[in-house]
Amino acid sequence: MGHNKLASLLLASAASYYVESQRGGSTIQWGACDSSVVTDASLSCGFLDVPLDYQDPSVGNAKLAIIKANATGERHGSVFYNPGGPGISGLTDLSSALIKDFLLNATGGVYDIISWDPRGVGNLTVPGEVFCFDSAVEYAMFFNGTIELTGILETGNFTNPADVNALLAQAPTMQKKYEELGQKCLNSSSGKYLKYVGTPATVRDMVSIANAIEGPDAPINYYGISYGSLVGSYFVNIFPERMGKVVIDGILNPVKYATQKPYALWSEQFLSTDTVYKGLITGCALAGPAGCPAASDDDGPLDIDAKFQALIRGAYEATKANALAPIPLGLVRQVLLLQLYGPEGWSDFMTNNFTQAVEAIMAEAPANGTLTTRFEHLVRRNPLMKRATANDSPSYSREAIQCADAIDLQGVTMEEQFKNIISNTQNVSHIMGALWPVQNYVCPFWPVRAVERFQGPFNNTHGKQFVVASNVYDPVTPLASAEKTARALGEGAVLLRQNGFGHATVAEPSSCTINLLAAYFANGTVPANNTLCEVDADYELFSGVTTVDVIAHLPSTDI
Ligand SMILES: *[C@@H]1O[C@H](CO)[C@@H](O)[C@H](O)[C@H]1NC(C)=O
Ligand SMILES: *[C@@H]1O[C@H](CO)[C@@H](O)[C@H](O)[C@H]1NC(C)=O
Ligand SMILES: *[C@@H]1O[C@H](CO)[C@@H](O)[C@H](O)[C@H]1NC(C)=O
Ligand SMILES: *[C@@H]1O[C@H](CO)[C@@H](O)[C@H](O)[C@H]1NC(C)=O
Ligand SMILES: *[C@@H]1O[C@H](CO)[C@@H](O)[C@H](O)[C@H]1NC(C)=O
Ligand SMILES: *[C@@H]1O[C@H](CO)[C@@H](O)[C@H](O)[C@H]1NC(C)=O
Ligand SMILES: *[C@@H]1O[C@H](CO)[C@@H](O)[C@H](O)[C@H]1NC(C)=O
Ligand SMILES: *[C@@H]1O[C@H](CO)[C@@H](O)[C@H](O)[C@H]1NC(C)=O
Ligand SMILES: *[C@@H]1O[C@H](CO)[C@@H](O)[C@H](O)[C@H]1NC(C)=O
Ligand SMILES: *[C@@H]1O[C@H](CO)[C@@H](O)[C@H](O)[C@H]1NC(C)=O
Ligand SMILES: *[C@@H]1O[C@H](CO)[C@@H](O)[C@H](O)[C@H]1NC(C)=O
Ligand SMILES: *[C@@H]1O[C@H](CO)[C@@H](O)[C@H](O)[C@H]1NC(C)=O
Repeated sequence: MGHNKLASLLLASAASYYVESQRGGSTIQWGACDSSVVTDASLSCGFLDVPLDYQDPSVGNAKLAIIKANATGERHGSVFYNPGGPGISGLTDLSSALIKDFLLNATGGVYDIISWDPRGVGNLTVPGEVFCFDSAVEYAMFFNGTIELTGILETGNFTNPADVNALLAQAPTMQKKYEELGQKCLNSSSGKYLKYVGTPATVRDMVSIANAIEGPDAPINYYGISYGSLVGSYFVNIFPERMGKVVIDGILNPVKYATQKPYALWSEQFLSTDTVYKGLITGCALAGPAGCPAASDDDGPLDIDAKFQALIRGAYEATKANALAPIPLGLVRQVLLLQLYGPEGWSDFMTNNFTQAVEAIMAEAPANGTLTTRFEHLVRRNPLMKRATANDSPSYSREAIQCADAIDLQGVTMEEQFKNIISNTQNVSHIMGALWPVQNYVCPFWPVRAVERFQGPFNNTHGKQFVVASNVYDPVTPLASAEKTARALGEGAVLLRQNGFGHATVAEPSSCTINLLAAYFANGTVPANNTLCEVDADYELFSGVTTVDVIAHLPSTDI
C-alpha cells in the first residue's frame, strides 16, 4: 500500500471518527463516582472520549470525567453546569450540597444536572490539572523574595511614592520569572496539552456530552457561574442553533475576555469590590459587639474600616521587615477577598478569624502554625487563589485556560501591568487593586495559545431569550459587567438582578431568584427584563442584621 493510500485511509477513518464524536455516536456508561473525589452517593459518574483537537482528529483523544445529579421530579432533560474558576472541578463542585440543591431548585427539579471536569482540570479528566513545579517547595524557592509570596506592599491607596517605586523596580525580575515559569510549564508533563485547553474546546466538549446524552439535535440547557458565564457566552454564540434554556450568573464580560488585554478584564472585575467590603464593615457595625466582637459600642462602619486598615498596615510593616512573615500582606488580601465572595461566612470570620489575625499580626507573632494553617486552608479553597501553600505543587489550570484563550500579547510588559495595578488601586478598588498573584498577569508571558480561539461576534444569538443574572454587590463580577454583557449579547439577554452581596446569586438565599429561574427552566417563562429580586427577609448576615439593613446603611464615604 502506497503512502498516499495509507494516508487517505487514515484520514477517512479520522474523518468518520470526527463526525461520530460530533454526532453523538458514543455513549456514557453511568456508575458510581470515584470515591476519592466524590462522596455523595446520590451522584453518578461516567467518561466520554472526545478529540483533543476538534480540527485535527489525528492528534488523539481527550477523556472527560462527567457527573450527574438526578432530577428530583419528572425528568424533562438535562441542564449542563460549569462552576467557574476557570479551573474549578465540576465533579467536586456538584458534590457540594449547597450547589447541588441550589441547581436542582433553580431548575425546578425537572432536569438532571450534568457537570464535568473540563480539559485541564482535576485528576480524572485527561488532560488533567496543570502543574509546572514538582512541589510547593520548588515553587517557593523559585519565587523566594518576590511579590509572588509576599503580595504587593502598599497601603493607603498606593499613594506613597516609595511603594510605587519599590513595585516598579521589581518589574524586570517578575517579568523574567514569569517568562521562565512559562518555559517550565511547557517543559512539564502538562506541556504538550497546553494548546488543547481553553473555552472553545470546552464548549465543543459540552456539545459532545450533550450529543451523547440527549442526541445530536436536542437543545442544550445550561447554567454557568462566574467563568462559567464565559463558557455560556461562547456556547450561545458558537452554537446558537443548539441553544436551549440558558442562565449565566456572576458575569464576566466576554468581549473584554476574548478581545482585550487580560488586565483590562481584571480592572473591570473590581468595580464593586470596595462596596462589598463596605457591606461587611457595615454589617459588623450594625450588629455591634454582641453580634460582631470586632465592633466596640457605638462603632460605625468607618470605625470597623479603621480596624481593617490597621490590620493591613500591620501586615504591611511586618512583611516589609521580614519577607518570610507568617501572615504576609498578600495573604491578608487573599483571605479578605475570599470573605467578600461569601457573606454566609461574615459573622464567623469577624467573630473568630479576624480577631485572631489582628492579634497575630499586631504582636508580630512568630510563625503561629495554627493560625497560618487556617488561613492557608481558606486560600486553597478559593478558586481564584494560588493553591501553593500545602506540600502539593500549585495548580496552573487557571492560567492555562485563560491564557490559551487570550489574544496575542507580544510587547505587553510587566511594567505596563504594574502601572495598571497602581492606577486600579488609586482609582478602581482601594482595598483589592493590589491583589497578587492573579492569573491575568501571567498571560503576556504564557508561551502557548489554544489551537482554536473565539473572538466573537457575541451577538449571534438570533434573538433567543436567555437569562443574565447578577448580584447588585459582587466583589469580582460586578453588576456593571452584567449590564455590558447583556447589551453585547444582543436582544435576547434578559437581566435578572439580586439585591444582595457576594459572588453570584447563590451567595445569598433568594426565593424570588430561585422561583423565577425555576419557572424559566420548568415552564419557559422568561423573567421581566431588569427584575430586581430581594434576598430572603429572614436571612441574617450577622445576628439580627439582614441584607436590606446593610444596604440601607452603606456609608457614602469613599473608603
Ligand atoms: C484525585 O484528587 C483527590 C484530591 O482532590 C485525591 O484525594 C484523589 O486520591 C485523587 N484521585 C486519583 C484517582 O488520583
Ligand atoms: C438516576 O436515574 C436513573 C434513571 O432513572 C436511575 O437508573 C439511577 O439509578 C438514578 N441514580 C441514582 C444515583 O439514584
Ligand atoms: C431548595 O429547596 C428546598 C425545599 O424548598 C429548601 O429547603 C432549600 O433550602 C433550597 N435550597 C437552596 C440552596 O435554595
Ligand atoms: C528564601 O530566602 C531566604 C533568604 O532570603 C532563605 O532564608 C530561605 O530559606 C529561602 N527559602 C526557600 C524556600 O528557598
Ligand atoms: C483612600 O482614598 C479615599 C479618598 O478617595 C480616602 O477617603 C481613604 O481614607 C483612603 N484610604 C486610605 C487607607 O488611605
Ligand atoms: C526541561 O526538562 C528537562 C528534563 O525534564 C530539564 O533537563 C531542563 O532543564 C528543563 N528545561 C527548563 C527550561 O526547565
Ligand atoms: C474561621 O476560623 C474557624 C476556626 O476557628 C474555621 O473553622 C473557619 O473555617 C474560619 N471561617 C472563616 C469564614 O474564615
Ligand atoms: C497561636 O494562635 C492560637 C489561636 O489564636 C493561640 O491559642 C496560640 O497561643 C498561638 N501560638 C503561638 C505560638 O503564638
Ligand atoms: C486616577 O484617576 C484620575 C482622575 O480621576 C487621574 O487623573 C489619574 O491619572 C488616575 N490615576 C492613575 C494612576 O491612573
Ligand atoms: C453585532 O455586533 C457587531 C459588533 O460587534 C455589530 O457590528 C453588529 O451590527 C451586531 N449585530 C446585531 C444583529 O446586532
Ligand atoms: C434588557 O435590558 C437590557 C438593558 O438593561 C438590554 O440590554 C437588553 O437588550 C434587554 N433585553 C430584552 C430582552 O429586552
Ligand atoms: C409551571 O407551571 C405549572 C402550571 O402553570 C405550575 O403548576 C408550576 O408550579 C410551574 N413550575 C414552576 C417551577 O414554576
